[in-house]
Amino acid sequence: NAIYLAGLSGVVPEWPVDHATLRARAAAHWPASVRDYVQGGCGDEATQDANAAAFGHWGLTPRMMVDTARRDLSTSLFGRALPSPLFMAPIGVNGICTDDGHGDLAAARAAAATGVPLCASTLANDPLEDVRAACGDTPALFQLYTPRDPDVAASLVARAEAAGYAAIVVTLDTWVTGWRPRDLNTGNFPQLRGHVLANYFTDPAFRALLPQPPEQDAQAAIMTWAATFGRVLTWADLPWLRSLTSLPIVLKGICHPDDARRAIDAGADGIYVSNHGGRQANGGIAAIDLLPDIAAVVAGRVPVLFDSGIRSGTDVIKAVALGADLVGVGRPYCYGLALGGADGCAHVLKCLLAEADLLMAVDGWPTLAAVREAGARRTDR
Ligand code: FNR
Repeated sequence: NAIYLAGLSGVVPEWPVDHATLRARAAAHWPASVRDYVQGGCGDEATQDANAAAFGHWGLTPRMMVDTARRDLSTSLFGRALPSPLFMAPIGVNGICTDDGHGDLAAARAAAATGVPLCASTLANDPLEDVRAACGDTPALFQLYTPRDPDVAASLVARAEAAGYAAIVVTLDTWVTGWRPRDLNTGNFPQLRGHVLANYFTDPAFRALLPQPPEQDAQAAIMTWAATFGRVLTWADLPWLRSLTSLPIVLKGICHPDDARRAIDAGADGIYVSNHGGRQANGGIAAIDLLPDIAAVVAGRVPVLFDSGIRSGTDVIKAVALGADLVGVGRPYCYGLALGGADGCAHVLKCLLAEADLLMAVDGWPTLAAVREAGARRTDR
């Protein structure tokens, strides 16, 4: 509404409101290695492209004569009230997104400004305590890439709990990095060079593994990190993860209904449907097409989080209609960070929410429950 009103006075928004323009502007802003790291995916990027394209074959059916003068997008997660179902998916090495190297703090400030929670990555360039503090009153989640050293894993989780995160999101699909030609062609992980893996570098258990403190030899610390990164998790590890924290544990990367069922049986507190934005494995089914079957199996027993392919407010609503309780956005908020730091990031989040809100207004759904009840229909079969 603010943008429409400003437009009446001839004021053009500082940043684009649509994904295609935003993506192109961010690509032009960044050095090639950052662009390729953020925008790239696995193999020929077929899964990544399918993730976004698949929203096109789900359609919504408007209802009329419903009072939608006020819409309520609010929801909750683990007892915390949230203004909307939107959250920011974890982005590792987010520092590269902003010119000042503090993309994580900028995203956290956008979370504080909008009420949209941030799921902070293990691979952040700012320490998790600082990121949590910058989120202000907005709840935050901590994403765990489980290190091979159990003491480092326990330390990271304990720090996250002490810092006040609302849940631990354990990523299951990335104990090893997928085949990413864009990164491989430029030398694997060029984006890590010269950047600080703040959570590791400040961690006492990780520092104990190093012959020299990271302040003296950052490159050696990065190499130690690479050598100790990525524990292969199996179902047998869940009790150990559970023993590390009293926080809710959400499993990220669930793509099969049987895995969702097993996760709940094993005590997981949340299911996070995601194929990592097509960055880890190619040749997969679009994440949004996986969601309905998983939501049916979960049947409201635990929250269902979703990401991979969200590019618009309409996509957010479709994900809710297909069974997501919380909807994560990844790359688009990185583009906002690139163009305008915390303000640019908040702009992207507000545009997603404004479009979702307008869609609910026009299509006759005053609440998320109404969206869910209306559902979405597959239009290509
Ligand atoms: C990611 N993703 C990710 N996931 C995770 O669990 N931990 C991480 O550190 C990262 N890092 C990361 C970096 C970058 C640059 C991207 C683009 C993605 C995956 C992320 O959380 C999410 O699953 C996808 O980004 C969602 O897909 P879209 O919205 O980017 O299509």
